[in-house]
Amino acid sequence: MEIKSAKYLISSPKVEGCPKPDKPEYAFIGRSNVGKSSLINMLTNHAKLAKTSGSPGKTQMINHFMINDTFYIVDLPGYGYAKVSQTQRGQWQKMIENYLKQRENLMTTFVLIDSRHEPQAIDLQFLRNLGEWHVPFNIIFTKADKSTQKEAHRNARVFIEAMKKEWEFIPRSFITSAVKFTGRKEILGYIEELNKDFFTEPTQ
Ligand code: GTP
Ligand code: MG
Repeated sequence: MEIKSAKYLISSPKVEGCPKPDKPEYAFIGRSNVGKSSLINMLTNHAKLAKTSGSPGKTQMINHFMINDTFYIVDLPGYGYAKVSQTQRGQWQKMIENYLKQRENLMTTFVLIDSRHEPQAIDLQFLRNLGEWHVPFNIIFTKADKSTQKEAHRNARVFIEAMKKEWEFIPRSFITSAVKFTGRKEILGYIEELNKDFFTEPTQ
């Protein structure tokens, strides 16, 4: 898929403030600093579309972007950031949970996992939450340029193996680098396929 346009629309503190759910939507979530905003900029080929930062906790609201006037991309705050107050963390968690459970046009949630690490309990727990809430998801391994290709692929495989211990169905996953544009074509192709499902009338 070619990206013809990418526009920032709105930042909402609550799901009620989000744009009308009349287009397919794709949310990006994962630990704080895992590379959500950078990945959105890489996919859309707009270096400054989503705000990125070297320090965690940059993204704080539900941020909608309109792509090609046909679908929405959503940048969400990261989970697991220790330095924000307990109260604020609780509020973010509730905001994310409400958003994911209530957004009827959400085609899939891309859960980002840092490809440099062994499986982390906080990520596996977040996937369990998604399962409990019946939220569809895919996995994106990030920052593949920061280790050797072999190591990034190994960590991805180990994560999927950890998932297999508790999941019957393993969703499609992608290995990416926002610096090298790795995985861009594959993810955009996947979104293009899902977009078709949204616009196809269900047959009786
Ligand atoms: P929060 O919004 O704070 O939760 O963070 P985020 O997940 O949106 O991460 P962000 O995109 O702001 O990136 C965090 C840091 O990682 C920045 O310093 C980025 O430059 C860096 N980064 C993100 N993706 C990549 C990547 O693929 N390769 C490398 N080398 N650095 C990356
Ligand atoms: Mg961010």
